[in-house]
Amino acid sequence: MALDRKPAPNDLRAFWMPFTSNRQFKAAPRMLVSAKDMHYTAADGREILDGTAGLWCCNAGHCRPKITEAVQNQVAELDYAPAFQMGHPLAFELANRLVDIAPDGIDHAFYCNSGSEAVDTALKIALAYHRARGEGTRTRLIGRERGYHGVGFGGISVGGIVNNRRFFGSLLAGVDHLPHTHLPENVFTKGQPEHGANLADDLERIVALHGAETIAAVIVEPMAGSTGVLMPPKGYLERLREITRKHGILLIFDEVITGFGRLGSPFAAQHFGVTPDMITCAKGLTNGVIPMGAVLTSGAIHDAFMTGPEHVIELFHGYTYSGNPVACAAGIATLDTYEDEGLLTRAAELDQHWQEALHGLRDLPHVIDIRNMGLIGAVELKGIDGQPGKRAFDAFLKAYEAGILIRVTGDTIAMSPPLIISKAQIDELIGKLAEVLKAID
Ligand SMILES: Cc1ncc(COP(=O)(O)O)c(C=O)c1O
Repeated sequence: MALDRKPAPNDLRAFWMPFTSNRQFKAAPRMLVSAKDMHYTAADGREILDGTAGLWCCNAGHCRPKITEAVQNQVAELDYAPAFQMGHPLAFELANRLVDIAPDGIDHAFYCNSGSEAVDTALKIALAYHRARGEGTRTRLIGRERGYHGVGFGGISVGGIVNNRRFFGSLLAGVDHLPHTHLPENVFTKGQPEHGANLADDLERIVALHGAETIAAVIVEPMAGSTGVLMPPKGYLERLREITRKHGILLIFDEVITGFGRLGSPFAAQHFGVTPDMITCAKGLTNGVIPMGAVLTSGAIHDAFMTGPEHVIELFHGYTYSGNPVACAAGIATLDTYEDEGLLTRAAELDQHWQEALHGLRDLPHVIDIRNMGLIGAVELKGIDGQPGKRAFDAFLKAYEAGILIRVTGDTIAMSPPLIISKAQIDELIGKLAEVLKAID
């Protein structure tokens, strides 16, 4: 049916919104019209304290001058340059800056436009890497239950969130999943939980079942974000690294959320002291300002492709907008801002204050678990019987009315404020959330 050609300013019909209850939203829209530092301004003029850094991406806060200016200047100077067989200086500069803050041994960057693309790119690089080394039987990919790796077919195949998978057919073949790490005995743990390192040993079972020579890569979020914020048990990531290394399997850390300071180090790999073979990142790479993602790889992976005649393309993969000049300018200005303001380690300074404030919610109605690390935290609510997700969604709506932006997934409230947040703003965010929790049924 053709749409009415005279849309009123508040005609919301045409836009099919992503991961949104469209009918609920359009009946009572929550419209943001501007932003500055820690706050959004809503269409009704209210200031909303950003408890989620947008969608875990505006790590330096909003409309930061250096980034804004860099984007404005770049779009007027070199708006676009072909990504294939051509280059422009900023793409090389940003790649160097990225590997400078990455763990030792991670020294190349491949660009894409989102976290989902970063994941699919990393999985493809893993497959092609083994093939380039004469191990083409390594085609199996291992993800983890409750993992979120974006929405591409690769990402939902290795991902483990059931609603992101069940509607979309048979997905990629040859994928197995490790068990998730959410254990009841870890409830209300501050930081990394004690129990569950042994869950990594399930990889040995998968290896025994299929043979190591069939497995290309394991991908996990070092700290699982979108499923509701699950911290890795102490020793878990170390164990995964040990087993993958022993069997010649690549380890990919999906750092789309944890990258760029969320846990108090540039990457979670450094926070946990475990170096994977590849890191996927996006979001905070450009402070959310221009879409951009990247796969950071070890030299060994990169070098395995650099063989054969020099005129031949080494990796048949890339996007029209890989390393787009405006995105690169945003990325460089973002890294400058992080550096100028010490933001990549600021979460470590605020960690204790954040932890105490968050765990102060423990005795409030409906709260059944609280989890935290760096500047990320989750409050899990007891679900309403027969209406999963309803209670947390009600909390989200009430929180927005109260002037704070939180995120919910299932019955878990997740928060990941910009890394510029002050202690007073942490208290305000958590204080308002406490009132919301008291007010919901
Ligand atoms: C760990 C992880 N991987 C991948 C993605 C997908 O990123 P995008 O939405 O940019 O495609 C996300 C998004 O939240 C994520 O948290």
